[in-house]
Amino acid sequence: MKVGIVTVSDRASRGEYEDRGGPAIEEYLAEVLESPHSTAYRVISDEQALIESTLVELCDQEDCALIVTTGGTGPAIRDVTPEATIAVIDKEMPGFGELMRTVSLRAVPTAILSRQTAGIRGKALIVNLPGQPKAIAECLDAVFPAIPYCLELLGHAYPETECARWQAFRPKR
Ligand code: MTE
Repeated sequence: MKVGIVTVSDRASRGEYEDRGGPAIEEYLAEVLESPHSTAYRVISDEQALIESTLVELCDQEDCALIVTTGGTGPAIRDVTPEATIAVIDKEMPGFGELMRTVSLRAVPTAILSRQTAGIRGKALIVNLPGQPKAIAECLDAVFPAIPYCLELLGHAYPETECARWQAFRPKR
């Protein structure tokens, strides 16, 4: 299984600071995914057309089953990751954003400032995370239990996961 990781940040893409979000997502996946996986990692600026073309490339050319973005979900003028995501998906999956904001509120009152969402393009699930590196585990811990089954429903092999904090849920069929 291939996973796309996209850091959306003007400053990280210009090299003004080191990207911490992308590596945090990579570490998270290495911790929880027991099935073999590879990653395709991109660091790009907050340009809607570039975010869209990167997501399309990771879905359609790189065949990523899952794509996790970090950054660009807030209210600032340059924050357009959710708009780019919505522009390239076939179906929105609003439960992801709803749940991540709910759990994030336990950590910070500013969690409501994230417009993070998720959706399906072809067979790929795209999930937005906020740019704060500490938001990555907070958000992924909430939604990951549903991701293996979601990927199975999209036609992928069910990815096995192992985490001390949560257990993936697979309804009986
Ligand atoms: N969610 C979690 N779990 N932890 C956080 O620290 N920061 C919030 C919010 N969601 C945060 C969070 C803040 S301060 C902002 S502005 C929004 O995410 C949007 O962040 P982004 O523009 O970097 O995506």
